[in-house]
Amino acid sequence: PMPRLRDRFGRAITDLRVAVTDRCNYRCVYCRTGEHGAEHSELPIPAYAKMVRLMVEMGVEKIRLTGGEPLLRAGLLDLIRDLRSLRTAYDHLDQPTSSGKPLDIAITTNGHLLAEKARSLKDAGLDRITVSMDAVDSDTFTRITRVPRAFQRVLDGIHAAQDVGLAPVKVNCVLLRGFNDDQIEGFGEFARREGVILRFIEFMPLEEDRIWSPDTVVTEAEILERLNRVLPLVPLPANALSETARRYGFADGIGEIGIIAPVSRPFCGHCSRIRLTSDGKLRTCLFSQIDHDLYGRMARGSDDDQLRDYIRAVVHTKEQRHHIGEPGFLKPSRSMVHIGG
Ligand code: GTP
Ligand code: 5AD
Ligand code: SF4
Repeated sequence: PMPRLRDRFGRAITDLRVAVTDRCNYRCVYCRTGEHGAEHSELPIPAYAKMVRLMVEMGVEKIRLTGGEPLLRAGLLDLIRDLRSLRTAYDHLDQPTSSGKPLDIAITTNGHLLAEKARSLKDAGLDRITVSMDAVDSDTFTRITRVPRAFQRVLDGIHAAQDVGLAPVKVNCVLLRGFNDDQIEGFGEFARREGVILRFIEFMPLEEDRIWSPDTVVTEAEILERLNRVLPLVPLPANALSETARRYGFADGIGEIGIIAPVSRPFCGHCSRIRLTSDGKLRTCLFSQIDHDLYGRMARGSDDDQLRDYIRAVVHTKEQRHHIGEPGFLKPSRSMVHIGG
């Protein structure tokens, strides 16, 4: 049998996040600060498809397409169709898990182009969608994304996704003190009204500028306290050990939220993720300092066995955990648009 992809701490790698472009049509204050005349790089769609296939053969079960903004990527539907056709019987592995379960294909998008693309995404074989949305009022939304009149488009996008059956839609909100922490209660109402799973995310030091400090982080404890005051919550059981979000339901049974707390409650111990950048480099942690040039090896003619050995060796270097807030912490060597959320 083929050994399953595992790191040196014994964590099985079942989750691959692929940045399919580093272009974006928004300029969110916490992400694309200081970006001037940036160079862009993306690979041919068949190259991503092949690298994903190699990792699926080694036990990856979940693909999340990110960016940059993935809906800007030409050929995205072809990629989803390619991934949909991958064989996912894991019985050739030393530790077969969810054998026979189809590959889970999800996307994280800002939603700007979603209204017109939801139907074709669903038809291509997409399973799930997460929309990043950092405000529930139009003015705050514009202040954060620095794109005028975008709020309504994103709302329309969420509705379109629900209409074509990409439900439940998840909505991700990164909280930054002083920017959008006044939106917490509004987001709670929004989750209930719209039937989306609203996930609050603690802000991490990933941006090109230096706006992160411990004070900018709105912690899980604070979010819970504020929501509980207006809308009491009850904890819900986790879907999986490696899940990033802790789940809560509203006490009256209507609505679900999640809190992703990488800063105040790191979840590295159960990390199942690796990342492929828009230019085809493997990254073993969101906070890696190193790029591993998988695409380069492929382009220079390595065969499948050699590429699989390389991927295995790279995964062996996966970091145990992040060191946010500790002395000597280094931000990742590249920004979020390359790495993918
Ligand atoms: P599901 O597949 O539905 O569980 O979604 P997900 O939580 O894996 O993916 P999503 O793209 O919605 O991720 C939400 C946010 O969680 C990201 O934007 C990041 O801020 C954070 N996040 C995701 N993966 C990691 C990770 O490996 N490490 C850290 N520190 N944060 C992560
Ligand atoms: N901290 C936490 N989440 C972030 N994202 C981007 N930058 C950060 C950060 N510094 C999130 C986006 C989106 C996903 C792609 O990553 O809001 O949900
Ligand atoms: Fe995994 Fe690194 Fe994220 Fe921790 S910070 S959960 S080790 S990718």
